[in-house]
Amino acid sequence: MQNKKTRDWTPISFIENAIDELKQKLGNDNVVLALSGGVDSSVTAILLHKAIGKNLTSIFVDHGLLRKNEFENVLKTYEQIGLNVKGIDAKERFYKMLSGITDPEQKRKIIGKCFIDVFEEEASKLDNVKWLAQGTIYPDIIESRTPDGTFVKSHHNVGGLPENMKLKLVEPLRLLYKNEVREVGYELGMLPQQLNRHPFPGPGLGIRILGEITPEKVSILQEADDIFIQMLHTWGLYEKVWQAAAILLPVKSVGIKNNNRTYENVIVLRAVKSIDAMTAECVHFSSMFLEEVSKKIINNVKGVNRVVYDISSKPPATIEWE
Ligand code: XMP
Repeated sequence: MQNKKTRDWTPISFIENAIDELKQKLGNDNVVLALSGGVDSSVTAILLHKAIGKNLTSIFVDHGLLRKNEFENVLKTYEQIGLNVKGIDAKERFYKMLSGITDPEQKRKIIGKCFIDVFEEEASKLDNVKWLAQGTIYPDIIESRTPDGTFVKSHHNVGGLPENMKLKLVEPLRLLYKNEVREVGYELGMLPQQLNRHPFPGPGLGIRILGEITPEKVSILQEADDIFIQMLHTWGLYEKVWQAAAILLPVKSVGIKNNNRTYENVIVLRAVKSIDAMTAECVHFSSMFLEEVSKKIINNVKGVNRVVYDISSKPPATIEWE
């Protein structure tokens, strides 16, 4: 895949060249792609769809750790574009595997492995697939190298799909930076609200629920997170924030509601400014905004009686709590 960048690079010329190259390279072969709902995999899918149409099958796995209504909304958007997309509801399978697990690394490993298992099973049901498409972008490649040039990890687009899948890799965005991917997405007809979405990690809410993950906890966090994100939009703050998230802690605290003592969950709000996620600083919201979000969460999310705001920088803290 050449489509090298020259000084006269434009998103339109990139798209034209990429489609020509993909047509030549893939011919009549079948291609499979794991969609995440994120910008990189979506732009890759649309580009491939333009080049090879129905020979591309995209698989979108619901691991039960997506944002509220994310699976349905994203699936609908893809279907409207005309993508040949298989939505797989694997929620129960993930919840079962995660039951009783509290260690963050172990949770990550289980989510990654389960994702690969589901993806492989679905891909193996397709006829005569020769290629695996990935939304790898340039920083993914750079970040995967050690100073001596060897690779230390595959980028984490889909949790590192196994080499023994025996599929050839096609990565049409591999020379692009994130802003260029957005420009290409825009030219391909994606809406600004799809292109300007905050980063969302592959393991999803799984790294924002501390301690054991249960369907009940996912539901509490989805509701709280949805209120926070909606309010960022309402107050015109969403696009001023690099990434925002709600986190569910594994501790309860005492509160009072209707003259009765409560003993319920704590939600953390996290919002950061960053350039490349290597460093990050908390966003300085007005206290009025934070109070409004807190009230709305406590009044509307059953099981939450306290909301706090994380003011830590990265380093030494990280963006996700895990
Ligand atoms: P941390 O918590 O390390 O996060 O400060 C830095 C950025 O990386 C995202 N992140 C991930 N993205 N798969 C992803 O696709 C992952 O496993 C993963 N872990 C962290 C995080 O959301 C933040 O933007």
